Amino acid sequence: MPDTSVTTTRIPMLDLKRQFAAIRDEVYAAMQEVCESQHLVLGEAVQAFERESAVYLGAKAAVGCASGTDALWLALVACDVKPGDSVITTSFSFFATASSIIRCGARPVFVDIHPDTLNLDPGQVEAKLYSAAALNLKAVMPVHLYGQCADMDRFERFGRDHSLKIVEDAAQAFGASWRGRRAGTLGHAAGFSFYPTKNLSAFGDGGLVTTNDNDLAEHVRRLRNHGSRVRYYHEELGWNSRLDSIQAAVLRVKLKYIDQWNARRREIAEFYDKLFVEVGLASPANRGGWAAKEPVRLLCTLTQAHHIYHQYVIRCMRRDDLRQHLSSRGIGSEIYYPVPLHMQECFNYLGYRAGDLPHTELAAKEVLALPIFPEITEEEQHRVVDAIREFYR
Ligand SMILES: Cc1ncc(COP(=O)(O)O)c(C=O)c1O
Repeated sequence: MPDTSVTTTRIPMLDLKRQFAAIRDEVYAAMQEVCESQHLVLGEAVQAFERESAVYLGAKAAVGCASGTDALWLALVACDVKPGDSVITTSFSFFATASSIIRCGARPVFVDIHPDTLNLDPGQVEAKLYSAAALNLKAVMPVHLYGQCADMDRFERFGRDHSLKIVEDAAQAFGASWRGRRAGTLGHAAGFSFYPTKNLSAFGDGGLVTTNDNDLAEHVRRLRNHGSRVRYYHEELGWNSRLDSIQAAVLRVKLKYIDQWNARRREIAEFYDKLFVEVGLASPANRGGWAAKEPVRLLCTLTQAHHIYHQYVIRCMRRDDLRQHLSSRGIGSEIYYPVPLHMQECFNYLGYRAGDLPHTELAAKEVLALPIFPEITEEEQHRVVDAIREFYR
């Protein structure tokens, strides 16, 4: 009987079962250790993960917390962002990028992205620094979208020249780097997410704040534990954002594989790029090129950036129809993000309108993320690209 499994099986956006199969015994052993210890919250496993992730990232300190959303909020509060302040950020990101700012009582100032990378455009940020919107500006929060660092040369300089805090949203960028320095060490503080879809993921929610400032790290440790250093004595108002030991134990196992997994993600992205060019859907000379004519456009990677491809994203014509076509062929895809933050209903009060951030708004109509995870096969990648070619034929 011929083997038809290759053409009939689904290709999901992410298949965590394949990852788990490879590390099952180690994960069970690590979980068992936590079960035996019964130190379930902020235990030895959390401390060990904080030490090991700080060493891996090259940060002075790392503080575990309950989610990436909380990590950003903790980092902002520890950077003294408070009611009345404003924070420049991108509108082309996950909701938590903006909600963490608002939870501090501050106001997000959305600035457009660069169409080649879809990361916050430093040129546009610079213009904003001199405008009225910069009133009470306290910080800039670049997002390392899809696993590629934003242009941190420029943001670091803005931080220095304008006395601003730089808070990295590194939720999608564990292991990414900029000129050889890892995401999470490029600003005053950074927030990572270990949500299960992330390239380094827990078995539930989890997050991490990193910084090179030991006092700031101490402050975050206090804030994540109700503003308390000594039990039942509260120096300030914090909240409960502690990391569970079981999550830290899983993360410690996965941390050992992160370089290998990120390297695979880069290979997979390179292979997609190659296939798109080979089948004539995209041209290498026209990367980014938001006004280009090809049905598929590849994004740019800056030479300073070591991109870890948390997501592999293309820009494409007739995106929603293409997505349906892929779905009919059993191929998963996702849109990160269909509605820019400045157009979200709950942010109407900020006063943005359609047309305010044209590159962001166009990207929201064109981007499509394709299946990427370290265990995806070349065969599956061929099927994804063939299905896209079939759609545009
Ligand atoms: C860019 C970005 N920021 C923040 C977050 C929030 O992380 P979490 O879902 O762990 O709260 C995420 C992940 O969902 C994200 O992708």
